[in-house]
Amino acid sequence: MSKNSLAHWKNRAVLVTGATGLLGSNLTGALVAGGARVVALVRDEVLDSALKCSGDWEKIIRVHGDLSEQAQLERILADYSIDFCFHLAAQTIVGVANDSPVATFESNIRGTWNLLEAARRYGKLKAIVVASSDKAYGMHPAPYDETTALAGRFPYDVSKSCADLIAQSYGLSYGLPVGITRCGNLYGGGDFNFSRIIPGSIQMIVDGKDPVIRSDGSHLRDYLYVSDAVSGYLGLADALAEGKFYGEAFNFGTSRPVSVLDLVRLLLEVSGRKNLKPDIQGTSKAAREIDAQWLDSKKASEKLSWRPSVSLEEGLQLTFNWYEQYLKWDAPLPARLGGSAIGGKGEGPCLPAGRVRVARQ
Ligand SMILES: NC(=O)c1ccc[n+]([C@@H]2O[C@H](COP(=O)([O-])OP(=O)(O)OC[C@H]3O[C@@H](n4cnc5c(N)ncnc54)[C@H](O)[C@@H]3O)[C@@H](O)[C@H]2O)c1
Repeated sequence: MSKNSLAHWKNRAVLVTGATGLLGSNLTGALVAGGARVVALVRDEVLDSALKCSGDWEKIIRVHGDLSEQAQLERILADYSIDFCFHLAAQTIVGVANDSPVATFESNIRGTWNLLEAARRYGKLKAIVVASSDKAYGMHPAPYDETTALAGRFPYDVSKSCADLIAQSYGLSYGLPVGITRCGNLYGGGDFNFSRIIPGSIQMIVDGKDPVIRSDGSHLRDYLYVSDAVSGYLGLADALAEGKFYGEAFNFGTSRPVSVLDLVRLLLEVSGRKNLKPDIQGTSKAAREIDAQWLDSKKASEKLSWRPSVSLEEGLQLTFNWYEQYLKWDAPLPARLGGSAIGGKGEGPCLPAGRVRVARQ
């Protein structure tokens, strides 16, 4: 995504929740590059965040808070005369959701209605894009299109089914300019959730260890490079601001199902470490995980002219390069994700004070 294609974001006041996460760091980077005035809701100032380590951190307004604080959400919208909102904040880790369902429901479901209710009362947003997920669908024969019923069964999936329906309801019942995204598995540099398969495997590969697969490796998933997700979010926000698609959901995926085992093989290929091989430790599929899931993104392609532009091979190479540099203790941290939404390769060395290495999983 070029700076030119982002120029219409100049001076728009944009609230991003979850700005320190994988998607939030990239989306915020794109908005800042377009000249938007970004306000970020920041719950924890974690040491490892691509946003915090980028030059963008100093170019945004950071409000410390939690989605549970509805009055504060209302205050932010009013104080900063927010025009657009991207609601990304959520407890996103499936294992954590299985262990702590209530905390996950609090953040993902209550947090979403708190934000939407604040937006309804504020009444001046031109667009609010809510992050749902392919997991909101639950188990169905793949591929999933937007008419597939939302039927999450496991805690994270249920939290996303509920948040998605609540967002639809605010769009359809109150005429709030809400659009919903359902992306496949996102990946890219700057994801510090090392329990996820891509950053976790890269960490092991860089350490010279065989990447561990805890299941039998047969789960099928759709993997979307983070800059392609960013372009989907921005495109949907623009369409909402033109008065279209209130309360509607859009899938964003590659429609290319890949097994966990093949994904790890591809990562090994791009890493060039021929001496390593996948270490499959499970004999069955992971518990409380959907077997096969990938998305039909025809609606986004037809109505938003959206298409993924980064192939899996290219995206994994960019991602591997990013972590390889990051995981070397003394190397400069890439300030921006290689091949990110704004096409930058980083703004120069950045090592935040107190940077710690993430614990091995
Ligand atoms: N990563 C994926 O594969 C994927 C796929 C589909 C959909 N999504 C959705 O996209 C969104 C962004 O995903 P991500 O991978 O960037 O997430 P992430 O885990 O990297 O970041 C989540 C962010 O939310 C913040 N947060 C969590 N709970 C909060 C609360 N109660 N109040 C305020 N902030 C809170 C965290 O501090 C963090 O900044 C999420 O809603 C996720 O469910 C992600």
